[in-house]
Amino acid sequence: MNKKIVFGLILAAIALGGFSLVNSQTSTPPTYYGQVEPIIAANCMSCHTTGGIAPFSLEKSETVVRVARSIKYDVENNLMPPWLPGPDSPAMQDERKLSPEDKATLLAWIAARTPLGDPSQRPPRPQQPEQPKPQPDRVMAMDPPYIPNKALLDDYRCFLMDPQFKKDTYVTRYELVPGAKKVVHHILLFVISPDLVASAQELDRAETGAGWTCFGGPGVSVNNGIPGIIGFWAPGTSGTSFPKDTGRLIKAGSQIIMQVHYNTINMTSPIEDITKAALYFAPEDAQLTQLRGQILLAPVEIRCPGPYPTDANDPCNRNSAMQHSMMRDVADGAHLLCGTRVDDYLNKDIGDGAAQETHCDFSIRGNGLAMGVVSHMHIRGISTKIILNPETPNAKILLDIPLWNFNWQGEFWYKEPIPVKAGDKLRISCTYDNSGPIPGPDKKPLEPRYLTWGEGTTDEMCLGRVALIYK
Ligand code: HEC
Repeated sequence: MNKKIVFGLILAAIALGGFSLVNSQTSTPPTYYGQVEPIIAANCMSCHTTGGIAPFSLEKSETVVRVARSIKYDVENNLMPPWLPGPDSPAMQDERKLSPEDKATLLAWIAARTPLGDPSQRPPRPQQPEQPKPQPDRVMAMDPPYIPNKALLDDYRCFLMDPQFKKDTYVTRYELVPGAKKVVHHILLFVISPDLVASAQELDRAETGAGWTCFGGPGVSVNNGIPGIIGFWAPGTSGTSFPKDTGRLIKAGSQIIMQVHYNTINMTSPIEDITKAALYFAPEDAQLTQLRGQILLAPVEIRCPGPYPTDANDPCNRNSAMQHSMMRDVADGAHLLCGTRVDDYLNKDIGDGAAQETHCDFSIRGNGLAMGVVSHMHIRGISTKIILNPETPNAKILLDIPLWNFNWQGEFWYKEPIPVKAGDKLRISCTYDNSGPIPGPDKKPLEPRYLTWGEGTTDEMCLGRVALIYK
């Protein structure tokens, strides 16, 4: 047996045994060409590539060595690759996570001062098998192309697109293809009912260039509350197929709003973006189970630190938040739904305001399977959880995001569907930090102000959805 293989076996044994490689003095440390490069290629290069969304490429050994210290920090703290569900969440499909073994190898390599090893010993790159590609039924893009606004660090833009749904249609798969990969950070696809199309067109007309500025939602959900989300995209993902034999039913006449988050930090000169959305429909005679969404939401009443101001115009008074919110109905309606009162929140002891929690319980309507889950907050959110049958012996976490990051939100699909029964309880809880200023999308600090339901950067949401099929 050659030395490398023996070493590999020892390494695997140590990693599987859970011993820390960092402290093992006797074994040869991993090398860049031997073990590290394949890990970086498989887990980091979808974004850390020339022209990718990450601020630097990790394709060259020199760069990996140069940033080893921040890699250590990010890997130890599970910050990279970016993946929001924490270790208490159920196993998800397409997890962007380092295995414990790969993590140990990276850290051992950094602890050993990043030895390069022998480039002639590089293991062969695994070849991705070519999958036959089905053809999408609709491909849409913004028209004209959009040039992100460099004056904003984060430019959130909504584009109205008409997929010409002549009849009710099951969508079974979507793909979101960013045009300007350097700047497209994430994409959300909303579906709006026919009655909202006119107000979306009005928003579109009101601004020059393609689309309109939007943040937490498309801005057209005024009366109807929560806009429907079909899908998400973040760098490193290709497309999403809904679970086998299921689909999302879209009503005739509905239209699509594509929200693109541009992060302009890498943009040195103006770039035109044409981001595409491809939809795949079920054949007309397909026998599909409708993927349903159980919407979960909780009241959002987040105070500023210090005593609650009585002046109605004070930004920390609820009245001022309600003045500019476009979702006042949801702000008040959440209390009716959850059996709470605004006063419950105004009288709570919030300490320094850094961990203000809200939650609400819902009942599941029928027996079935939970297939996937998503939650949504804005930039003051710090953590969120969705729990099945909370405070009972068979409580089960459906989603646990211990460290929220608005820019890496997504929908998560379970590896194994989770059985649910009619009458089961579902609890969503969200926690926010409103203790001090945070950087806003235009780089200017956002001071704490009273936060309630709305779509703006100075509004918040505590919104979730469990994707279910009923039996
Ligand atoms: C899905 C895309 C994506 C993947 C995969 C990814 N990164 Fe990143 N990385 C980013 C982006 C974007 C940034 C810039 C900061 C941000 O937006 O969070 C970043 C920043 C970093 C930084 C700078 C420090 C920081 O936190 O800002 C380091 C170091 C890093 N990544 C290392 C890695 C390593 C190592 C891997 C693989 C194990 C990896 N990244 C995988 C997108 C990614």
